[in-house]
Amino acid sequence: MAVSADDFKQALQLWASGVTVVTTYSEKLGVQGMTVTAFSSVSIDPPQILVCINDSADTGVGIEESRCFAVNVLNADQQDVSNQFAGGSSQQQRFDNTPWQPGTTGAPLLTESIMSLDCTVVEKFRAGTHWIIIGAIQDAVCRSGEPLLYYRGAYRQLADN
Ligand SMILES: Cc1cc2nc3c(=O)[nH]c(=O)nc-3n(C[C@H](O)[C@H](O)[C@H](O)COP(=O)(O)O)c2cc1C
Repeated sequence: MAVSADDFKQALQLWASGVTVVTTYSEKLGVQGMTVTAFSSVSIDPPQILVCINDSADTGVGIEESRCFAVNVLNADQQDVSNQFAGGSSQQQRFDNTPWQPGTTGAPLLTESIMSLDCTVVEKFRAGTHWIIIGAIQDAVCRSGEPLLYYRGAYRQLADN
């Protein structure tokens, strides 16, 4: 028997994750980005990752156009950035308020995030309401800092114990 959407969402709240901002750039649509927790490593050789993006998201349209994207892992002080890229402000404001520079593919790398993976699109699959987008890593940039976490619908930080 199918599980209701509410029960499914409630169950998924028990999955703790980091928080990323997925960005892209195309000449036609400019810079775009959105907050994404549905991110996973896929393959070591060749290095590949995936993100799951709602088919109503503008950034998904941008990735279809550019065929490239970057995954930026937010630091513990970037709750505001997460909220802005989750629809709290316009695409223009998101990038005006957040330091970034173009990566190898042209996708924006958020320079205050703790890690950025710059990718080209390998494959894209439809799965219900979302697109599963697999990216081949073209560049990986690691920076200092602690990660922002998301659990039970709230932002969290690592605890020392
Ligand atoms: C913590 C958090 C995690 C999110 N994770 C995802 C995700 O994994 N996939 C997704 O499609 N939307 C996710 N969203 C929602 C999008 O960030 C939001 O709908 C976004 O504004 C849509 O992108 P757009 O501005 O390009 O249309 C998340 C939002 C928050 C606050």
